[in-house]
Amino acid sequence: MNSGLEDVIAAETVLSDVDGANGRLVIRGISLDELVTTSSYEEMVGLLFDGFLTVSHDLPRALGDARVEVFGHAATADAELVALSPVDGLRALMARLGDGEDIGTALRLVAAPAVFTPALLRLRLGLEPIAPDFSLGHAQDTLRMLTGTIPTKEQASALNRYLVTVVDHGLNASTFAARVVASTQAGLTSSVLAGLSALKGPLHGGAPGPVLDMLDGVGTLQDAPAWLDDALARGERLMGFGHRVYRVRDPRADALKGAVRMLSASGAIEPGRLALAEAVEQAALDLLKRKKPDRPLETNVEFYTALLLEALGFPRDAFTCVFAMGRVSGWIAHAREQALGGRLIRPKSVYVGPVPKVAA
Ligand code: COA
Repeated sequence: MNSGLEDVIAAETVLSDVDGANGRLVIRGISLDELVTTSSYEEMVGLLFDGFLTVSHDLPRALGDARVEVFGHAATADAELVALSPVDGLRALMARLGDGEDIGTALRLVAAPAVFTPALLRLRLGLEPIAPDFSLGHAQDTLRMLTGTIPTKEQASALNRYLVTVVDHGLNASTFAARVVASTQAGLTSSVLAGLSALKGPLHGGAPGPVLDMLDGVGTLQDAPAWLDDALARGERLMGFGHRVYRVRDPRADALKGAVRMLSASGAIEPGRLALAEAVEQAALDLLKRKKPDRPLETNVEFYTALLLEALGFPRDAFTCVFAMGRVSGWIAHAREQALGGRLIRPKSVYVGPVPKVAA
C-alpha cells in the first residue's frame, strides 16, 4: 500500500504538467515562464475552460458580471460567519451558490473568492463591503474591493501574476479532491468546495504565513545566517524552501520573485523588507546546500507569495483565500474534465480491523 499515493497515476489530463526534473510547469502546452509575462487571469480562465465549458467571446465582461451577481451573497454574512477564519467564512458563503455544470455556475465560482474575501475582511474591520465594478480587470477589481481605491498598475499586475502562477498545478491534493467529487457527477460547486476544504490545510495552501513569521523571527539582515543555523539545529524546516516534485527549481518562485521586484521598484514594498527577505533567502540556500548536500532544496512558491500578498495588503490569515482566487479555475477545469471523460473514482482499502468470531 502507498498511503500518500506518490507515483500513482489517477487521471489523464490535458490541463497541466508539473515537470519536477526540469523545473517546469506547462499549462495547456504553454510554459508558465511565458504565461506570466503575457496573460491576464481572465485569459487563463479561457485557456483552462476551452473545450470543457462554452466560454463567451468577452470573458472579462462575463466574469465582471459574475462578480456583480455573487456580491449579493456578501450581505447575507452574519456576525457568526464573519467571526470565522477568512477561509472558513469564504467556504460558508460559497456553499450558498447552487450546483450546476454550466458556464454560469463556473463563472460565479471563479468570481466568488475574489468578491467574498475582500467583503469578509472589510466586515471584520466593521467596514461596508465594496460592490464589484464589472468594467475592471479581475485582479484590479479585487484590490479595489479590498482597499476602496483603484490599485496602481504595478499592484494590479502583481496580483494578476500571482493568480496566473497558481491557477493550476497537476494533481495536487485540492485538485484531486475536486476530481473525486466531480467523478460522482455532484456538480461544480460541490467540487470547488471539496478543493477549498483540502487547500486550507497547512500542508497545502496554508504555508506562506509561516514565511513571514520566519522573517519576523530573523529580525535583521546581519542576524539571518545565525538565526537560520539555530533553526536547523533545533530540527526545524526553513519555510519557503524545498518541494516534493521540483528538484532543480520551482518555476512559480521565479515568477513571483519577478513580481515582488516590480512591486519594490514601484515603492509598494519597503526596501528594508525586500533586503531582509533576499538576505534570508541567500543565507537559507547557502545553509541548506552545506547541511543537506544530497538534497536539492531551492526556494519554493511560498517564499515570494508571502512578500507579494503582504505588500498588496492581504492579512496573513487570508493568504489561503487569495490562493483559492487563482486555483478555483483549475479546480473547475479538472472537475469538468473528470465529469466528461472519467469514471467514478473508487479505490480500495485493505481491512486491518478485527475479524468476526466464527461460531463453533
Ligand atoms: N528546511 C530544512 N530541511 C528541509 C526542508 C526545509 N525547508 N525541506 C526538506 N528538508 C530536508 C528534510 O529535513 C529531509 O532531510 P533528512 O533526509 O536529512 O531527514 C530531506 O530534506 C527530505 O525531506 P522530505 O520531507 O522527505 O521532503 P519532501 O520533498 O517530502 O518535502 C516539503 C517537501 C515542501 C514538505 C519540504 O521541503 C518542507 O517542509 N518545506 C518547508 C515548508 C514549505 O515551504 N512548504 C511549502 C511547500 S510549496
